[in-house]
Amino acid sequence: MVDLIEKKRDGKELSQEEINFIIEGYTNGNIPDYQMSAFQMAVFFQGMTPSETANFTMAIVKSGEQVDLSAIEGIKVDKHSTGGVGDTTTLVLAPLVAAVGVPVAKMSGRGLGHTGGTIDKLESIKGFHTEISQQEFYDLVNKNKVAVIGQSGNLTPADKKIYGLRDVTATVNSIPLIASSIMSKKIAAGADAIVLDVKVGAGAFMKNLEDAKALAETMVGIGKSLGRKTMAVISDMNQPLGFAIGNALEVKEAIDTLQGHGPKDLHELSLTLGSQMVCLAGKADTPETARAMLEEVIANGKALEKFKVFLAAQGGDASVVDQPEKLPTAKYTLDVEAKADGTVSEIVADSIGTAAMILGAGRATKESTIDLSVGLVLHKKIGDKVKKGEPIATIHSNHDENEEVIQRIYDSYTIEEGHVERPTLIYDVIK
Ligand code: URA
Ligand code: CA
Repeated sequence: MVDLIEKKRDGKELSQEEINFIIEGYTNGNIPDYQMSAFQMAVFFQGMTPSETANFTMAIVKSGEQVDLSAIEGIKVDKHSTGGVGDTTTLVLAPLVAAVGVPVAKMSGRGLGHTGGTIDKLESIKGFHTEISQQEFYDLVNKNKVAVIGQSGNLTPADKKIYGLRDVTATVNSIPLIASSIMSKKIAAGADAIVLDVKVGAGAFMKNLEDAKALAETMVGIGKSLGRKTMAVISDMNQPLGFAIGNALEVKEAIDTLQGHGPKDLHELSLTLGSQMVCLAGKADTPETARAMLEEVIANGKALEKFKVFLAAQGGDASVVDQPEKLPTAKYTLDVEAKADGTVSEIVADSIGTAAMILGAGRATKESTIDLSVGLVLHKKIGDKVKKGEPIATIHSNHDENEEVIQRIYDSYTIEEGHVERPTLIYDVIK
């Protein structure tokens, strides 16, 4: 290992065999944390070549089990977002693309963060559960084109160990390490094709477009080298996506979007990502054709119908789709009002996300419990005019004391005089 650390430190390329040695040795405990730490810091400064990055990814995949989705008909396309605040796209996309025949075999976790994971969000629907057998999962996807199963099995143990170490050695922010970490999980989960939503902006890992493009190109390169059709959309995370940040609140927002009257940015990003998924699944030749197909199933109600079928098939009360008031609701709602006239010029996404977490919408640690009913609904986004006293956001809370959350919302919003451009939503598509 000391020779390999030295080789990487000096900027030389490691062979596939050498990379396998490192990942296998670290996973089984033969290589200690201090050597892996030094190696990762060498990667942080020297980077990795495309072939090293692909080999590193595959070695992580091979460190654990790999899901076999071959019992499901068709090309299984997975979507991954590099993380943002209030990102409701998965809830919209699963029924939307399934409604045009793309198989959605979604494995999902709970995780930590501002709001719950996809499974937590869906559990705000009474009766819905993801504890289904592998066979039931395959059967449901073959029958309905969409199902969600909780993550089980020992996938990418090397990534868990490496990520934990990166977190405490200042080596998280390395493009080859981020790219291999994300792609290893998608490949181990059995995807044939992968659509990536790489976020850029103040609320994202990548703060500028150049870095976001480099990350996207690295991930697309890994996917292609490993035989998975892969493409990436670079989208804005300078403010939260949509209006809702919270679990049941985001389910409601997804329903609105499937009905065609969701927030503009969530609608647009869902159609952009969805079009790419439909193309990779071989159901359309161009993104334009795919988009028209998706717009049609929104307009004729088939996407919404698919959502109901999906929920009911996993025990959920599908009547919430027509009666969203049946979703869990918080005891108190409280408007946060603008202190002056002007135009919104900034909404610090991270800080808004933390406000939702303080309300109980997300987990700060693995032990935290989630309150599905609470969160925030924004009324004003960047570029919107506001009048003094007008609500900029509504807090949904189960506490009667919300000073900290109110203050955070005020701190997150900047309201200026004059005109402010709305941020671009889609910056680029990398194929
Ligand atoms: N998300 C991941 O899964 N891995 C990283 O390294 C960064 C973000
Ligand atoms: Ca949202």
